[in-house]
Amino acid sequence: MTEPNVIIAASILTADFLNLKVELDSIVKAKIPAVHFDVMDNNFVPNLSFGPKILSDVASYLKTKGVAVDCHLMVAIKSNIKVKDFLQPFILDGVNSITLHYEALSKKQLKEFLSWKNCGFKKGLAVSPETKINKIFPYLDLLDLVLIMSVHPGFGNQKFIDASYQKIQTLSDYCKNNNKSPIIAVDGGINDSTAKRCIEAGANYLVSGSYLLDNSNSIKKQLEKLVAWWNN
Ligand code: DX5
Ligand code: ZN
Repeated sequence: MTEPNVIIAASILTADFLNLKVELDSIVKAKIPAVHFDVMDNNFVPNLSFGPKILSDVASYLKTKGVAVDCHLMVAIKSNIKVKDFLQPFILDGVNSITLHYEALSKKQLKEFLSWKNCGFKKGLAVSPETKINKIFPYLDLLDLVLIMSVHPGFGNQKFIDASYQKIQTLSDYCKNNNKSPIIAVDGGINDSTAKRCIEAGANYLVSGSYLLDNSNSIKKQLEKLVAWWNN
């Protein structure tokens, strides 16, 4: 079969942070075009990760290597703070897209985020497993990317939730039938069997963390395994 037009992004959530540069170099060596950066606030999700300083270091380094950074914010924003102000520290050279969670935003915040023109990054909305995908249909014209969470946000190395395939398919069918073309991204539990089914269902951007990074094989080898079926 011909190679599908799909981007595989590497999540660095479970990277070895004592050797972060080595990990990033392995991602570059594997010719992975994008790094996924998970920001967690111990409020919207029960975990804390990293913030703008590490993002800035990672994104500026990766920019020199031609690797994009997509920033996935699993955070709640206080109601008295404007989304635009909250996001300022994350709008950095090398950060190509910023994704917020549908569930984490008030109606007012969602409206502000969606109506923000010329923001300088690709705008994404993430949808947690318990949220019906049709909730975001009204906003597709204002989004560059929809991130379907195929695990409960908060931790790497979780099992893919099977109901996600139907969600991807429903979004993909809706987009085809209504002439919409956001990037359809899937995040969580991506491995050599789930990747194939996600792509068949209509995904064109897959985030993979522990499968690529937490293995005795190199990242390059794991990527080859992840996409091996493309050539079979
Ligand atoms: C989970 C994060 C994911 C995670 C993916 O909350 O948003 O990006 O790092 O990791 P794996 O591929 O291990 O499920
Ligand atoms: Zn993520």
